[in-house]
Amino acid sequence: MSATITSIAHYLPPEIYTNEYFEKYLETTHDWIMARTGIAERRFAQSGGTSDLIIPAALECIEKRGIDKDEIDCILVATVTPDHFFPSTAALVQHKLGIKNCWGFDISAACSGFVFAISTAKSLVESGMAKKVLLCGADKMSSIVNFNDRAQAVLFGDGAGVCLIEKSNEDNLGILDQILHIDGLGGQYLHQKAGGSAKPSSAETVAAQEHYIYQDGQAVFKHAVKGMADVSVDIMKKNNLTSDDISWLVPHQANLRIIAATANRMELNPEKVMINIEKYGNTTAATIPICLSEWYQNGRINKGDNIILSSFGAGFTWGAVYVKWNMND
Ligand code: UT7
Repeated sequence: MSATITSIAHYLPPEIYTNEYFEKYLETTHDWIMARTGIAERRFAQSGGTSDLIIPAALECIEKRGIDKDEIDCILVATVTPDHFFPSTAALVQHKLGIKNCWGFDISAACSGFVFAISTAKSLVESGMAKKVLLCGADKMSSIVNFNDRAQAVLFGDGAGVCLIEKSNEDNLGILDQILHIDGLGGQYLHQKAGGSAKPSSAETVAAQEHYIYQDGQAVFKHAVKGMADVSVDIMKKNNLTSDDISWLVPHQANLRIIAATANRMELNPEKVMINIEKYGNTTAATIPICLSEWYQNGRINKGDNIILSSFGAGFTWGAVYVKWNMND
């Protein structure tokens, strides 16, 4: 028995911030940002938390599937920007949606959050522990970005993608395989210095700006290029897939150059790579489900398509998932 995506939707806050917005107060240019990252604009929510980004996408996802919300028996939220450390964002989503009789939890794997969470949802469904998992990948990165640091302010955005994971009606269609990795040695290059139990927030940590993202961009870049390309090639080999067999690569959208290096190593035609980084920047756990949702909504994914989801992020965490698409409109 395999598990599959049976519905998908996404939400982006309406407020658009172009590169020109940053040009006005930071020493940066549209040309630098485009050349180094591929990002032209991103969305920032003006209020609310990550759960508020999830709710509109979740409602649309449930409506598209045509089920009663109470049929959902588990909620997973992949995020590094939970509304609070506790309760979990999954609990807030359950409460805001008014779903009865379900359970759920958050998954913290940064940019690999969706890839880790879809693998978790698959195993819950395949083991019989859950029948209908509401799987959310969402981040309000504007809540932890230092807007006065040009090296990070321009990179991120806010957004959410939500899908339903259920038992597949055909064993060879759905979420078929995954390769997942974690290596805490990478933590030194990308982390949040304060606010956790090791260094609780205080007036001093806030004054030192330790509640924001810390990133050594070049070090992360180097590891990401190798990690994402390696794992994407590994999942192809493991499943005897050639580049011709693959319909779509859905890469985490952190940097166009990392995406291009991954596609290149997979010997993929660039037309088979989902890219929307120019519009939304890096929405962390949301990039992959937003891509999938947009492409499906635009009629560009068909039943039977071989799709590779691939990501790399803080931890380090990285992984790839092989999906054989199982939805028709
Ligand atoms: O999703 C989670 C995982 N994260 C990633 O995958 C991010 C990986 N890293 C990257 O994408 C890239 O390293 C960045 C986009 C963050 C930076 O690009 P880069 O080509 O690695 O630039 P750099 O950090 O080597 O900086 C080159 C120069 C520096 O100036 P100096 O020291 O050469 O004078 C930076 O200060 O560019 C400068 N710089 C900027 N200049 C204009 C950094 N940010 C900016 C900016 N505008 N926004």
